[in-house]
Amino acid sequence: MTKHIIAAAATLLTLAAFIYMFNSDVEVQKMKNIATLIEKSKIEVKLSNKNEIKQEIKQETSAQSNKKEESEMDKKLKALKDKAGNMAAINVSPLYKKNCSSCHGTVGEGIIGSKLIGRSHDYILKALMDFKSGARKNYVMYGLLGNLNQKQLEELSTEISLFQEKLDAATKK
Ligand code: HEC
Repeated sequence: MTKHIIAAAATLLTLAAFIYMFNSDVEVQKMKNIATLIEKSKIEVKLSNKNEIKQEIKQETSAQSNKKEESEMDKKLKALKDKAGNMAAINVSPLYKKNCSSCHGTVGEGIIGSKLIGRSHDYILKALMDFKSGARKNYVMYGLLGNLNQKQLEELSTEISLFQEKLDAATKK
């Protein structure tokens, strides 16, 4: 009889142990699940933070680049204004003004046509003669120079080669 009681008690204990273990397993699992949830939410929070940070960084950089663009723009505009003032102070021949300035700029700073300011007399004259003869192919320049004689080409070359000097002198004032 005692054996039976002991056996029953042992079985009960085992059962209890099983239940306990099972429960604790469930608890552990629950805790694990909760922990996972917390981790996940942390990751999600982190991720969303990251995105926010990224966006903030993006906004900052775009704001910075906007500022940069603005200041560069300002500089250019200011330089242009200064230039325009200086350019007005430079006497340009009617020959250049009428035939060349529309494309090469008031003092050869270049618009549609290349920048001419700073080029030497010989370089310009050679270019003009080559355009006129067709040795250097450019229909715009070729068409234009057809109306100009050698003396005019010489004059233009001299004038354009002095633009830099003139501009420098005008900037000093
Ligand atoms: C309708 C626009 C236009 C006009 C007006 C014009 N040019 Fe040009 N010019 C150009 C273009 C475009 C080029 C670039 C051609 C090339 O490099 O092949 C050029 C090139 C030149 C070059 C060579 C520049 C280099 O870097 O090698 C010289 C010099 C020149 N032009 C002088 C003149 C002179 C002087 C006049 C006035 C008589 C004149 N141009 C009128 C458009 C023009």
